[in-house]
Amino acid sequence: MSSKFYQPDTVVCNGETFNIYITKEQIDERINQLGNKLDKDFEGKKPIFIGILNGAFIFLADLMRYVSIPCEVDFMKLSSYGDEKVSSGQVTELKHIDANIEGRHVILVEDIVDTGLSMKFMVKKMKEENPASVTVCTLLHKKDATEHDVQLDYVGFEIPNAFVLGYGLDYAQEGRNLSQIYVIDEDA
Ligand code: IMP
Ligand code: MG
Repeated sequence: MSSKFYQPDTVVCNGETFNIYITKEQIDERINQLGNKLDKDFEGKKPIFIGILNGAFIFLADLMRYVSIPCEVDFMKLSSYGDEKVSSGQVTELKHIDANIEGRHVILVEDIVDTGLSMKFMVKKMKEENPASVTVCTLLHKKDATEHDVQLDYVGFEIPNAFVLGYGLDYAQEGRNLSQIYVIDEDA
């Protein structure tokens, strides 16, 4: 029987070729470490994880299963990229959280921080509701692309400034179902 996870070595998505970059094993191992660290840092604080849709849905789902302290989950939806590979430079809120976060410890969960614009917007929005604390957890960080000043408390992987796909991340809405992370092949 073949693997149930969708994990080719190379994939073509919307006409662009992508090669495997971070494997499922590497992702699992790193998320396990992040979960352990969150358990220690937030013990007794009952944090509320806020996933940023759509990209963070898979990361958040996996991260939750490595967290063993009492916690809650909610979602917020932002749009900034449209269907392009570069940021539109505009962030819009498409769905707000339902939870009341006043006095709560909020952990924002994002798939990737690129220019930092979306995360800066999110942190500002959250702070307007007077939470006890706002912590940022992102699976990926394109350090060289980040122009906006935003504190990233937990980072899964620092990656170069190249377009990536899979594990929740899309290219024109496709490719989110890949179980690993792929990088664009600019020479293909
Ligand atoms: P930022 O506001 O420039 O930091 O962009 C963050 C958002 O852009 C993320 O939530 C992603 O949805 C998207 N994004 C940035 N880089 C990539 C990428 O390499 N692949 C797919 N989506 C990306
Ligand atoms: Mg996103």
